[in-house]
Amino acid sequence: MSDTLLWYTTRGAGAVSLILLSGVVVLGVLSALRVQSAGWPKFLTTGLHRNIALMAMVFLALHIVTAIVDPFTHLGWLTAVVPFSSYYRTLWLGLGTIAFELLVAIVATSLVRGLIGQGAWRAVHWLAYASWPVAVIHGFGTGTDALSGWFMVLSIVCVGSVAVAVVYRLGQGSADPLASARSDFRARVARRPDR
Ligand code: HEM
Repeated sequence: MSDTLLWYTTRGAGAVSLILLSGVVVLGVLSALRVQSAGWPKFLTTGLHRNIALMAMVFLALHIVTAIVDPFTHLGWLTAVVPFSSYYRTLWLGLGTIAFELLVAIVATSLVRGLIGQGAWRAVHWLAYASWPVAVIHGFGTGTDALSGWFMVLSIVCVGSVAVAVVYRLGQGSADPLASARSDFRARVARRPDR
């Protein structure tokens, strides 16, 4: 792959990752609020939330791998793992690494949700609210396209959609009035000795 192609791929995959992640956050909020209608059953929201999250990880992997193998910056693999270890744009790339690692924790705990229990899964899942803005700041801080018209429009749509979803979520309070009764019941079932 030529250097130019790698650079365009990094930028394109970064922008697509941001769109997909914003969609994932919005769908996550809708699914926490149990939003549904006759034409839009709840399983559609949860299924889309999960599948778009996995698709975002694929584009993110492409974004990171092409950024690292690009010989122009020669970032090194440590950049993707150790925040603020890059000599190049240390702060902005460090934020990208943090956002990525939080996402890996969210996806990994979701894959083993049955093993770690609902409480631990939910606690880690809340990190999505930290990961997303950190990723947005990373993109703005280091993106070649950050000041271009199309990237501005894209960012306004992404930030606007997530802001509306989060404000709506906060306005709704507890989405599930039976949540505490449910987790109480689950805890009691888990403690029940085998007969
Ligand atoms: C959740 C994680 C991440 C997201 C959502 C994300 C998203 C973005 C976005 C939207 C841009 C701007 C692209 C453009 O200008 O068109 C960008 C730029 C960039 N990202 Fe990330 N990124 C993430 C993590 C990382 C990580 C871990 C690295 C480290 C290897 C990285 C390396 C870069 C580089 C080098 C650029 C600048 C590309 C350029 O020259 O324009 N990103 N990222």
